[in-house]
Amino acid sequence: MNQLEILRENLGQCDEIILDALLMRNRIVEDIMSYKEAHELPIIQPEQEARQQDWLNGRIDGKRHKKEIIDVFSSITHNSKRIQARNLFNYNIFLIGFMGAGKSTISDYLSTMLAMDVVEMDQIIAQRQGMSISDIFETYGEQYFRDLETNLLIEMQSKSNVVVSCGGGTPMRECNVIEMKKNGHVVLLTAKPETILDRVKDNHDRPLIENNKTVPFIADLMEKRREKYEAAADIVIETDNKSALDICEEMIHRLRALDQN
Ligand code: S3P
Repeated sequence: MNQLEILRENLGQCDEIILDALLMRNRIVEDIMSYKEAHELPIIQPEQEARQQDWLNGRIDGKRHKKEIIDVFSSITHNSKRIQARNLFNYNIFLIGFMGAGKSTISDYLSTMLAMDVVEMDQIIAQRQGMSISDIFETYGEQYFRDLETNLLIEMQSKSNVVVSCGGGTPMRECNVIEMKKNGHVVLLTAKPETILDRVKDNHDRPLIENNKTVPFIADLMEKRREKYEAAADIVIETDNKSALDICEEMIHRLRALDQN
């Protein structure tokens, strides 16, 4: 064997070690999940991720190719989260609720903590149309926008383990709810009108409340929608005075309980 062949053989042995370590690591990730569930422990533990990060920073301090190693570890962490998310949910999660109920915040949090793909319906519709939601309403009218929502939900049939952050009006159409339930669970996020007002007051891309940002108007529209929201929901989570972490934990545990029934 010449020198090059020897080096390649050594490299191959390294890859064997990495592969075995990854297979073992992934099994441990699954075992940790099972343990947390069996002992009813929180599934999302941000402090543990921070500890792992501190450990890595300490270990690679002063080492060569630091950036490349950090890159590999962040990919390993991302993929561990994917494994956890897939173990938890083999379906889509549709977040519904009034404007400002926290759908986007919670989907962002699930994307960070469980590496779940997120479909932000308003954002995708605005991107595809090349204009803001307010401009779509103004140019083509509300029905046109509602049809775009329905079509996007139909597209979701080919996906799984995605968090879909619906528009506030999405569950008002019965056929939309039917689409959601085909391959997903529907989670209704609620909040008091006062909380909603506080969350939406500085945003200007919600045409239905733009000129009516008051508690009575919000309370009235919310009441008009309540029946359909509740009929669509598999679970309901109140969000007032709760952190994103609290809300996600509650959601995970309640969805898991639903699946076990
Ligand atoms: C709407 C809610 C908005 C957006 C559109 C209409 C509604 O979404 O889809 O302005 O009918 O409640 P958010 O709930 O994400 O703000």
